Amino acid sequence: MSQATNQSWGGRFSEPTDAFVARFTASVNFDQRLAPQDIQGSIAHATMLARVGVLTDDERDAIINGLNEIQGEIERGEFNWSVPLEDVHMNIEARLTEKIGITGKKLHTGRSRNDQVATDIRLFMRDEIDVIEVELKRLREGMIELADREAETIMPGFTHLQTAQPVTFGHHILAWQEMLARDHERLLDCRKRVNIMPLGAAALAGTTYPIDRHVTAELLGFDRPTENSLDAVSDRDFAIEFTSFASILLMHLSRMSEELVLWTSAQFNFIDLPDRFCTGSSIMPQKKNPDVPELVRGKTGRVYGHLMSLLTLMKSQPLAYNKDNQEDKEPLFDAVDTVRDCLKAFADMVPAIEPKKASMYEAARRGFSTATDLADYLVRKGVAFRDAHEIVGQSVAYGLKSEKDLSEMSLEELQQFSATIEQDVFEVLTLEGSVAARNHIGGTAPNQVRAAAQRAREALAALKAGA
Ligand code: ARG
Repeated sequence: MSQATNQSWGGRFSEPTDAFVARFTASVNFDQRLAPQDIQGSIAHATMLARVGVLTDDERDAIINGLNEIQGEIERGEFNWSVPLEDVHMNIEARLTEKIGITGKKLHTGRSRNDQVATDIRLFMRDEIDVIEVELKRLREGMIELADREAETIMPGFTHLQTAQPVTFGHHILAWQEMLARDHERLLDCRKRVNIMPLGAAALAGTTYPIDRHVTAELLGFDRPTENSLDAVSDRDFAIEFTSFASILLMHLSRMSEELVLWTSAQFNFIDLPDRFCTGSSIMPQKKNPDVPELVRGKTGRVYGHLMSLLTLMKSQPLAYNKDNQEDKEPLFDAVDTVRDCLKAFADMVPAIEPKKASMYEAARRGFSTATDLADYLVRKGVAFRDAHEIVGQSVAYGLKSEKDLSEMSLEELQQFSATIEQDVFEVLTLEGSVAARNHIGGTAPNQVRAAAQRAREALAALKAGA
């Protein structure tokens, strides 16, 4: 880091910035990550300035060539970032002037770092949203295919984490997929509000130069320029919205993680995760730990924290730009990185989940999970639901004493509790009969799971086509 005094605004100052204050106010150590977007924005700005006659074509070309060279220097790690130059914007501009002389100083005509940084962040967010969306789609596809494969696999469904009724594993995985479908909609909705261009708002009030903001917006792929210059330089609610999406998504991934952790335990023994997603213990040789889901569950907290940081950062800011906004970047960058990495981990891991079908089946069989089916059976034979509930309660009590599931009792044993019970009861007491009977849209029957997987596939494909 070079220690040269900042010349960009030195004109009205009578003494150099205190060395600590220079470090305290500088953002270059983290905002250099915005360099590609900063250069992209500057190239569009210079192109527009030439088109409206503020720069000559030669000046524009010198600026664009210089910026492209700087991009190369940054990519090759040759760029000398300077803390006294404060931030990514002034570092790049100073280097441009060093390379092409006085023309470099003309780039900043008709703009301010305030609209520049707002533009950079929006370009960055758009790029990252698109990367995140690819991973989210890949994860959803993996879930849909896993659900389709396991449409007939039976597991216990839970309420209060107690065995409730049998469900199919495919149905459970499609419940996860539904959560992600809503997250996906939230992400795409957020993108609409991200993709609006602040450039041209300048410091806060606009500029006296004859700029054409529609040209710049089009060059940068924005849907339109922002409506109000004061709002343009100060608004960060798109970042809050993204972090809110990220928090809800990670809350979902954390719930899934919790289930994966439980399911891989010896006590549940429902699934196996391939070794590549697990680690061992340095002391207990038998251990295989589900680190990936545990970490996703753990990382959820930091993203919630970033949402709180950004909300609090904005809550007292008067219009328009305030330096507070420099604090938006680190939470946002970390939220982006965390979401992307957690989605990648899940997208890699989910298709590799190996259900232990026999063990899941056994668990569903053990917990009297077809008790509701027996009650429904009695109701169909004319017994009032409350009486049916009582009869089944007695049957379960008997089963607990005799260590028999309902389906393991003989007809005579069952008839102790109700003479209405006949041979056909065994069709409903089996796990297969129980899940197959829930045969309506949104139900757990295997054919419904396959149909739901197909609808999910189509919905995802429609999103891909930009629908
Ligand atoms: N580094 C600043 C930020 O991240 C750029 C804008 C600075 N503008 C200013 N007037 N000091 O927000």
